Amino acid sequence: MDKERIVSGIRPTGPLHLGHYLGVLKKWVSLQDEYECLYFIADWHALTSEYRDPAIIEKSTKDIIITWLSVGIDPKKAVIFRQSDIKAHAEFFLLLSMITPLPWLERNPTYKELKEELKEKDLGTFGFLGYPILQAADIVIYHADKVPIGEDQLPHLELTREIVRRFNYIYGDKILKEPKEILTQAPKITGLDGKKMSKSYNNTIWIAETPSSLREKIMQMLTDTKRGAKKDPGEPDDCNLYPLHECFTDINTRQEIKPACRSATIGCVECKGILIDNIEKELSPVWDKIEYYKTHMATIDDILYKGASYARDQAEITMERVRSVMGLKT
Ligand code: TRP
Ligand code: SF4
Repeated sequence: MDKERIVSGIRPTGPLHLGHYLGVLKKWVSLQDEYECLYFIADWHALTSEYRDPAIIEKSTKDIIITWLSVGIDPKKAVIFRQSDIKAHAEFFLLLSMITPLPWLERNPTYKELKEELKEKDLGTFGFLGYPILQAADIVIYHADKVPIGEDQLPHLELTREIVRRFNYIYGDKILKEPKEILTQAPKITGLDGKKMSKSYNNTIWIAETPSSLREKIMQMLTDTKRGAKKDPGEPDDCNLYPLHECFTDINTRQEIKPACRSATIGCVECKGILIDNIEKELSPVWDKIEYYKTHMATIDDILYKGASYARDQAEITMERVRSVMGLKT
């Protein structure tokens, strides 16, 4: 039997951080053998919020592809491409917009929240309102079976399914496929200051740190505030650093750290040192690959070129059918 197909995208609005690495990228890597995976850079989606300052998009597109390859997304297994290389996404977006009732978009919780969050960016645009239709086009144009996404994206996927059902109701059963979700688990880690790790809070640990910037960031990280001095006992469950140990440190060491923290026999500086070593151990092969790709940009261009030509052919299969049932010349 053919493998089921997966489609997912990331908006290129900046470099990727440890939250992406732990929550999204490790999952994407693990899905590559079981599924046919199409992973793309959602650069048009990035424009919905970055249209005033679009230079970030091209820069982070390159950074993100390099990061994908360096953490183990393998162009021999997965199709890697850029959304804007496949113009049919935009055509399909337009056609789907014809049948999508406006209230479906206006009640979208992500629309309401993000508009509030990004007030300074003036998101009262048609493009931003139509964001989920473009996302539906991205997914459905490839007849995706499943979409790995975070919980925050569920309303978009539900809307995608609603649009598919409406399309099939109007133009004919089973023309488009309803995708299911694969939920990616958000890691419990927080940023340097204890708040959610996010580039808008300026508290992130990037995947592409250097050994010295990693050390500096971890050393400045807030720990259990009860530990004003080394002799004060702490509680790993109240420590903003400890969840990182759960992601990078083996269970035996963790079982030593916990009581040592509670009895004040280990200090935060020492505890942080162990964490830094472990992150470094896991990420240094990634860092080496990042350095390699930075000087082999032609490889990146080649991967994007090949990915786009495959994706374009696959998209065209759907578009021919869609144009035909919508009364357009094919
Ligand atoms: N909206 C998604 C996000 O912000 C990105 C995205 C765009 C996407 N198109 C997609 C994700 C299609 C999955 C499938 O994370
Ligand atoms: Fe956190 Fe480690 Fe300090 Fe305990 S010893 S408070 S776990 S950094």
